[in-house]
Amino acid sequence: MIHTLEWTDSGVRFIDQTKLPTEEKYITCKTYEEVADAIRTMVVRGAPAIGVAAAMGIALGVKNSRTESVGELKREFDQICDAIGKTRPTAVNLFWAIRRMQDKFELLRVRPMPQIKQALIEEAQRMHAEDIAANRAMGRHGATLMPASGGVLTHCNAGALATCGYGTALGVIRAAVEQGKKIHVYADETRPFLQGSRLTAWELMKDGIPTTVISDNMAGAMMSQGKIAAIVVGADRIAANGDVANKIGTYTVAVLAREHGIPFYVAAPFSTIDLDTPDGSSIPIEQRDPNEVTHIGGRQMVPEGVQVENPAFDVTPARYVTAIVSERGIARAPYGESLRRLAEEMSVAG
Ligand code: MRU
Repeated sequence: MIHTLEWTDSGVRFIDQTKLPTEEKYITCKTYEEVADAIRTMVVRGAPAIGVAAAMGIALGVKNSRTESVGELKREFDQICDAIGKTRPTAVNLFWAIRRMQDKFELLRVRPMPQIKQALIEEAQRMHAEDIAANRAMGRHGATLMPASGGVLTHCNAGALATCGYGTALGVIRAAVEQGKKIHVYADETRPFLQGSRLTAWELMKDGIPTTVISDNMAGAMMSQGKIAAIVVGADRIAANGDVANKIGTYTVAVLAREHGIPFYVAAPFSTIDLDTPDGSSIPIEQRDPNEVTHIGGRQMVPEGVQVENPAFDVTPARYVTAIVSERGIARAPYGESLRRLAEEMSVAG
């Protein structure tokens, strides 16, 4: 079991994903500012992991607070939520987690401070456990879509490292392998941050799941050679109409999949589905430091002064998505209806 992030008595402990795959190093953030930095610098990344890290960061900030009244604590809590909310804009799980902590605080406002602090810590821990359970359920649903044998391509890392454990897209693959399906994973390298080659390959090798790393520009050739039977990726935000924001390059993979008649699946928990965002055009896309594109391993790869773009995500229109796998089941087009129906079932189930 990979411990992506966990609550400890001394702070929030993360495996440092910037150091993988060559170093397995853990760091403990002792303040909420350190947690915010860990999210921003991608020590912890992946939408569900970002969400739970945010909740734990808020709980940590509240725990460390030296305020003496609930009113003062609330003011500090608001500042903490604000700071955490400014780290990364695309993964809606971040804002989902903040809202859940805000709702919890609101409910507890009349209680004594130690109780409020303890309940917020417990809420963050509950979100951690729920995330793993959601991934397991998603795995069970999604495994039915995987081929009995063959190549499955994935982009970026939507695995244990992107969640609290097991993974979304990689959870689907893991569950299929656990059922005896003979899957060979093709992991897109995922330029510029290399989540596929550094992280997906690392965690699948740990599990003994056969994996081949390809550079992003090889995906089309692999598809045309018949090596890919299905594609499964994660998501950072799914709009109400089923448009999917995910790691830059996902759109290219989806369009190629359509050309080759290969099913393109998205696996994501309900905390990634944003029914308040009507379609992909309103999803904010994070722009990151050009250095991530211009340099590889500290070495400059482009001429000094050239213009560079570094959008961290793209939007795949719903029409390219064969199905969306969530912990509640599988949604198919028209997503406007199917996602809303799953959300309603979820609120009925509580
Ligand atoms: O920039 P990152 O590494 O946080 O981007 C991660 C992705 O795009 C993942 O595919 C997505 O968050 C789903 S993780 C289960």
